[in-house]
Amino acid sequence: MAFQFGYPETKPVGTGGSGPLFSEKRCFVTGASSGIGFGLAKRLLERGAEVWICSRNERRIRAAYETLSALGQVHWAAIDVCDADAIARYLDEMAASGPVDYVFANAGVSAAHSFEKTTRKEFDRVLEPNLYGVFNTDQAAIPHMLRQGYGHILNVSSMEGYFANGYHSAYITSKFAVFGLTESLRYEYADRNIRFSVICPGPVVSNIWGRDAEGNIHTERKAPPESLTEVQAADEILAGIEEERNIILVTDTARTSWQKLREAPASADRFAVHYTAANRAVAQYLEQQG
Ligand SMILES: NC(=O)c1ccc[n+]([C@@H]2O[C@H](COP(=O)([O-])OP(=O)(O)OC[C@H]3O[C@@H](n4cnc5c(N)ncnc54)[C@H](OP(=O)(O)O)[C@@H]3O)[C@@H](O)[C@H]2O)c1
Repeated sequence: MAFQFGYPETKPVGTGGSGPLFSEKRCFVTGASSGIGFGLAKRLLERGAEVWICSRNERRIRAAYETLSALGQVHWAAIDVCDADAIARYLDEMAASGPVDYVFANAGVSAAHSFEKTTRKEFDRVLEPNLYGVFNTDQAAIPHMLRQGYGHILNVSSMEGYFANGYHSAYITSKFAVFGLTESLRYEYADRNIRFSVICPGPVVSNIWGRDAEGNIHTERKAPPESLTEVQAADEILAGIEEERNIILVTDTARTSWQKLREAPASADRFAVHYTAANRAVAQYLEQQG
């Protein structure tokens, strides 16, 4: 397994395709009932992997399983990633029948809030799944990967894991933290053959755009028109893995913002102001909804 350190490539990844990398691999995906996690599970199955999925809502993860099981071998469980013991038990169950090749710590929630109206409880409601859910998943997976002598953990951060804007303070705090955690673990485990990558999507069509802090889905709130679909995002992620990228930027928006931050900071600043205005409108809308 090759290890490369340093910065991500900002050129688009290939389109994925049918390379054999994932054939007969055993993959764990958290937050697979919808969106990017569902797209990943679907594409992994189509490429010959066996997949373990979970998310917290039993009805939604069961429905995902019923769709995905037509494509290959899928195992499912309704688990909250904030429950460290439950995540560990599920990974133990997976490891009892074979290796844990890939782990995608993907489950997450978003929230748009003005900071002065964000209580500590609301802040934690985002940090618990987005940061500690990743912590729980990684900690549960690492012992199995150490035992088998290899493995690849992919933590889902965001474009907002390196590019900040306003009215998203809890989400951005959680995603910068996931970025930093993953970078740190990559160095810590490099000599023990566990690879870490951080996935940083820009806009992707998913339920996250319409969810409030309680998890209710507001269908009138939609992803921006430039968004990728969940399977297009999954294809970019799997292609990024095939290309051995450590920091996998997904969507042109994510790649452009990374480049602007480094090469044209004034333009990046204008981009952040634009996003802040959009987030402010969402925060005001959600605050009016009560
Ligand atoms: N879509 C984007 O534009 C975008 C951009 C950057 C980063 N991301 C990141 O991508 C990841 C996936 O989000 P998505 O956009 O695909 O949104 P999504 O469609 O809302 O999917 C989120 C998934 O996470 C699950 N989940 C949430 N909280 C959980 C918990 N406590 N325990 C277990 N599962 C939980 C949800 O399950 P339930 O059905 O059980 O609620 C769902 O399966 C997130 O980490 C998000 O921050 C998304």
